[in-house]
Amino acid sequence: MRRLNIGTIIFLFVVISLVPLTFVRSAAGAAGDTPSAAAQPGQAAASPADSEYVGAERCKTCHQENYDSWSKSVHFRTTLDTRGGPSKQGCEACHGAGASHAADPSDKSKLFLFKKASAGEVNARCLTCHASGPTHLNSPNSFHRQNDVSCIDCHSPHHATAKEFLLVKEQPALCYSCHLQQKSQFNMPEHHRVNEGLIQCTDCHNQHGTGGVWESDHLVRQVRTSDSGDVVCFKCHADKQGPFVFQHASVRVEGCASCHIPHGGANPHMLKYSNVNLLCLQCHTSAALPHGPVMDKVMDAQQSTQQQACTLCHTQIHGSNFSNYFFR
Ligand code: HEC
Ligand code: HEC
Ligand code: HEC
Ligand code: HEC
Ligand code: HEC
Ligand code: HEC
Ligand code: HEC
Ligand code: HEC
Ligand code: HEC
Ligand code: HEC
Repeated sequence: MRRLNIGTIIFLFVVISLVPLTFVRSAAGAAGDTPSAAAQPGQAAASPADSEYVGAERCKTCHQENYDSWSKSVHFRTTLDTRGGPSKQGCEACHGAGASHAADPSDKSKLFLFKKASAGEVNARCLTCHASGPTHLNSPNSFHRQNDVSCIDCHSPHHATAKEFLLVKEQPALCYSCHLQQKSQFNMPEHHRVNEGLIQCTDCHNQHGTGGVWESDHLVRQVRTSDSGDVVCFKCHADKQGPFVFQHASVRVEGCASCHIPHGGANPHMLKYSNVNLLCLQCHTSAALPHGPVMDKVMDAQQSTQQQACTLCHTQIHGSNFSNYFFR
């Protein structure tokens, strides 16, 4: 809820701050809309006047292909929204004021050239419109942004190959193009079926940046949390959330990843150890257990099931409503 409210506030702020621009546009529009007036040299200013914009139809005359890919994309909608004036519409919303270039194609001095821009400049450019939505609320926290991965490493306004979201490639191939180590994890015998298309990297991660506290591992790994701050795993594994009368403290405190490898591994149930006993004894010292002798017997008697010994008795390992020892 809290995040939503901040998003709404920013949205309102943007809308309010655009209102004066609309008036400026209608006042200046009639005077400066002719290409000849716009093409006059020496008009370069920090923020170009409306007259320095020519509109997408003009660009189309020379850039048919870029026009076609743009007009089929959602960015076409910017032409229907006049609130921000011409600097927020059409091709020039991204490429900058184009009048001088349209008059003399060799003049690219006022264009924003994505291929020559730094990652930081590209991100800033796209965020002039996208920063206000909830998607990018936490983008300053994004490890991608901080490590010079830009919007157009993943998105392409003109040359997208994916069906949705203007992506350069579909997931998970998109993510594997840089995260090779994760590719091998999802090839392990026990894994979340990401390669099979059942779930996606972005079901668990927010590639645009997550909110929260810096100390929290979930922020560091860009793992999503619900609005109430719960770990993403509960979204699909609701039965592990409880609330239980008796909760295994480790599930709450250290989180699922203290026992499971979230991507995938060689062990059943994606556990960190093939031997469940070893997993438990990471935190519970064998000597301190009240059933040390019992355990020894169990271990001897049940060689075949030895590896699962602890959860043979402590079956409800995530939490229980009936037993403080998680027997049922
Ligand atoms: C009269 C034809 C013409 C018009 C109108 C025109 N362009 Fe161009 N544009 C060109 C040509 C030719 C080039 C290549 C110039 C060069 O590389 O020196 C070019 C280059 C570009 C580039 C750089 C491409 C690159 O890879 O460096 C961009 C971006 C661009 N135009 C955008 C626009 C936009 C946006 C508009 C509308 C505001 C527009 N153009 C209008 C002819 C035109
Ligand atoms: C949402 C931002 C955005 C809009 C709107 C946009 N472009 Fe682009 N344009 C880009 C980016 C980013 C690139 C760099 C190549 C890429 O990633 O697709 C690019 C590249 C280009 C190029 C260089 C050739 C190429 O394909 O790489 C031209 C020319 C161009 N755009 C023209 C246009 C024209 C004409 C329009 C309007 C019809 C337009 N663009 C609208 C972002 C935009
Ligand atoms: C002038 C404002 C503006 C700029 C600049 C802009 N966008 Fe957008 N973008 C929009 C609007 C409006 C939508 C449609 C959102 C909606 O209607 O929900 C959109 C949608 C998108 C989508 C969602 C596509 C989908 O299929 O749902 C992506 C991805 C995107 N933009 C990426 C970019 C990138 C990358 C850049 C920079 C190269 C960029 N945008 C620059 C206004 C902008
Ligand atoms: C590491 C890859 C990556 C980077 C970098 C990235 N995106 Fe995305 N983006 C995605 C993927 C994947 C999706 C679709 C899955 C989803 O919705 O989360 C998406 C979805 C979107 C959407 C539509 C979904 C929505 O919730 O509105 C917009 C808009 C968008 N991105 C804009 C941007 C902008 C702007 C930047 C740069 C500041 C950016 N992205 C950087 C991968 C990326
Ligand atoms: C089921 C949820 C889930 C899915 C799906 C998922 N991740 Fe993760 N990922 C996590 C969690 C949780 C962590 C943090 C692990 C930890 O704290 O030890 C993580 C950590 C990471 C890290 C940090 C380094 C590391 O391995 O610990 C990267 C990079 C990463 N994931 C990329 C990806 C990519 C790429 C995909 C898709 C191919 C993906 N993840 C799919 C949950 C997921
Ligand atoms: C263009 C290269 C590139 C692409 C594509 C890319 N990433 Fe990344 N990613 C990086 C870099 C660089 C970092 C920061 C350095 C690091 O931690 O490896 C990073 C960091 C991350 C982290 C945080 C890792 C940590 O240690 O906390 C996660 C999670 C992640 N990426 C997930 C994804 C997902 C999901 C996708 C696909 C939607 C994706 N990445 C696509 C380059 C990329
Ligand atoms: C203390 C270690 C530990 C923690 C923490 C833990 N698990 Fe488990 N989990 C296990 C063990 C051990 C098994 C195998 C149970 C068995 O052998 O009967 C298991 C099995 C599972 C299974 C498959 C079997 C089933 O019961 O559905 C899922 C799904 C699962 N865990 C999800 C989670 C999620 C989600 C979290 C975080 C909320 C979590 N686990 C935290 C130890 C743990
Ligand atoms: C988008 C939904 C989704 C999210 C989010 C998710 N999982 Fe899963 N998980 C599944 C599905 C579906 C399966 C069933 C196994 C399969 O066939 O891929 C599964 C299987 C598992 C299993 C193995 C169950 C078994 O019987 O062996 C474990 C353990 C597990 N998940 C833990 C986690 C943890 C830990 C997280 C958080 C980091 C998490 N899951 C997040 C969907 C999800
Ligand atoms: C990441 C550390 C960690 C791991 C791994 C772990 N536990 Fe725990 N466990 C705890 C903590 C912390 C408590 C709470 C201790 C307390 O309240 O004194 C606890 C409590 C318990 C209790 C209840 C004790 C009581 O007095 O109520 C049982 C039973 C238990 N764990 C069994 C297991 C078993 C079986 C495994 C292996 C499947 C396991 N634990 C793995 C940390 C862990
Ligand atoms: C044969 C069944 C059985 C097996 C196997 C078993 N336990 Fe227990 N465990 C019990 C019983 C019964 C108790 C309750 C003892 C009591 O009443 O004081 C208990 C209690 C506990 C407690 C609570 C200790 C306390 O101080 O309150 C922990 C922690 C624990 N077991 C961990 C483990 C671990 C770790 C393993 C595997 C190495 C394991 N157990 C294997 C039956 C078992």
